[in-house]
Order: sequence, then structure tokens, then C-alpha cells
Amino acid sequence: MQDHRLVSAQALGEEDYVDSSLRPLRLTEYIGQDKVKENLEVFISAAKGRGESLDHVLLSGPPGLGKTTLATIMAHEMGCSIRRTSGPAIERPGDLAAILTNLEPGDVLFIDEIHRLNRSIEEIMYPAMEDYVIDIVIGKGPAARTLQIDLPPFTLIAATTRPGLLSSPLRDRFGINCRLDFYSEEDLSRIIVRAASILDIAIDTTGAGEIARCSRGTPRVANRLLKRVRDYALVRGSGKIDSVTAVKALEMLEIDSYGLDTVDRMILDAIIIKFGGGPVGLDTLAACISEETDTLTDVYEPYLLKLGFIHKTPRGRVATEQAYRLMGYPVKGRVEEHSLFEDRE
Ligand code: ADE
Repeated sequence: MQDHRLVSAQALGEEDYVDSSLRPLRLTEYIGQDKVKENLEVFISAAKGRGESLDHVLLSGPPGLGKTTLATIMAHEMGCSIRRTSGPAIERPGDLAAILTNLEPGDVLFIDEIHRLNRSIEEIMYPAMEDYVIDIVIGKGPAARTLQIDLPPFTLIAATTRPGLLSSPLRDRFGINCRLDFYSEEDLSRIIVRAASILDIAIDTTGAGEIARCSRGTPRVANRLLKRVRDYALVRGSGKIDSVTAVKALEMLEIDSYGLDTVDRMILDAIIIKFGGGPVGLDTLAACISEETDTLTDVYEPYLLKLGFIHKTPRGRVATEQAYRLMGYPVKGRVEEHSLFEDRE
């Protein structure tokens, strides 16, 4: 479910690798998520003080909010290495056994998209997390034997956009549970100013503010927009990002002041026009905009919910009055479907 929009919160292609230059390595450099940061600071120094590895950590929240960044920071702060993999990449029990048995004492194992880990593989994680052992079955049928292998102490840091999909035995084995939330515009502005200095492009606070406003509460989007606005400033502007340059560049990129793009607008349009404002079920809505249901729930919906353009109800999604106003439609209940279409012509 790769999403190629400029305002997508998912990492695009090699971006994950490229963006590592912008990623902070220490908790003190990490901007925003203050509560999570404060908790982690305490847990990390306590674990270091005891000379133990950090308890297992579950990081949840929408894509692009810095879960991988935080995992890297935690490993760095603990002074240990990090091995990165993802739920879908671990296809067989042997894959996980190989990863676990190759860890060094104290290592961090980062598993992205843990909710996509196969259930039979997940069960191997239980004793690994609890007692640092794995049980391997050798042979088949009545002759099968179980071999227990000791693992070095390690920290599992798992990331998920869908914590609700984790089984409770797995969820219960994380000692530290952190929920990341969308960033404020102020925090995003600070992230943009920091990234601009690493990218060596001049920016003022008004320019950073304009980019922050369109960044969907997401550092990954902020950094991506910054790079495109930088290109515009260098080619069409004075080489410096101020508010005028930023606004012109964002206009050229067809991104509105909420950071919404055509797909977001298609979603709102479908709810309002095709389903009379809702409620409409997720599967129906996803089919209507030719997207997978998971993409709708993980990528598009969280930000539309956060901005208050849609609400969740037990019977499906509904468009709010704010959405009608944004889309230029008279507020729900006072218009016929065909007249709405005419209004749009
Ligand atoms: N780059 C991406 N996310 C960041 C954050 N939270 N703080 C600083 N720089 C970042």
C-alpha cells in the first residue's frame, strides 16, 4: 500500500535512508512528543543505572511521526546497536530465530509494523521477550523434539500504526507503551528550522511556519515539503525561504493550507456527495476512492479525524459541517444531491 503523494506520511522509496541525515540521535535533539520523551528519559537512565537492558517498548501512532527515529535514539542513548526489520519481512519462524540468535547482549531489535507479524511467529516472541529463550521444534510427528536456545538480553522496540490489532499476549509483554500524536505547528516549525540548517538553506520563522501549517502534523511530510520549497527558493526565489517564497512554492505543489491534497478531498467529496454526508462504511468508502481499506484507515483517516473534517460513528464515517464548508458545499440537510453537483460545476 505504497502511497506516492507529496503529503503522504509513509516513507517514499529511498527516503527513509536519505532522511537519516535529518534524524536526531539524542533525546535532547528530538523535538515534540514531550510526555513520551520525558518518560523515556527516566526509563533509559534507570535501566542504564542498573546496568540492564531497557524494557521492551511499544511505539504506536500514525505513520511519519518518528517511531523509527525514537527507536534509533533509544539504542543510541543506551549505547547499543540496533537491528531493524519489519513484521511482513519475517515470513517464517526460522527468520525470527535467526535474527534473535544473532543479537549481541543489550542490542535493540526494532520491528516495524509489528501488527503484521504472523500469529505463529508471534508466539516465538513470547518466551523470547519474557525469559530470553526460544523453543525450536526439531523433526516432525512423534519424533519431534523441542530444543530451548538461550538468547542474550535484548530490547524489543516495536512500532505499529494499529495497536488495536495486536493480540493481548503480545501487547502485555511490553513494559513501556508510548503513543505518539500529531505534532503542533510550533514543534513542526522547530523541526523545519533544524532540518533547514542541516540542509544548509536559509529560512526564517514565517517561512518555516507556512511549511509547518501544511505538514499534516507530521515531521516526515514537513521535511519532504522543506526540500521541495528549498528547490523552489533556489530556482525561482532569492535562495532564502521566507513566507512569500514558501506560499508560492506550496501553491505550485497544489497543497492547501491544511496540507490536504486531491485524495483527501476525494474522500470528503465522496462522503458528502455520494453518501449524503454519511454514515458510510469504511470498505464502501475505500472502494469508492479506489484505495485499500487499510490505506484509508492508516494513512488518510487519522489526519481528517484530527482536523475535525470527519467523525467516526458506530455506523460509519460522517462528514462534519467543517468539511462541507471546506469543500464549498451548503451544510448537510439543506441541499439536494443534484444541486450539490451543480454547485461544483
Ligand atoms: N526530524 C524528524 N522528526 C524529528 C523530531 N521529532 N525532532 C527533530 N528532528 C526531527
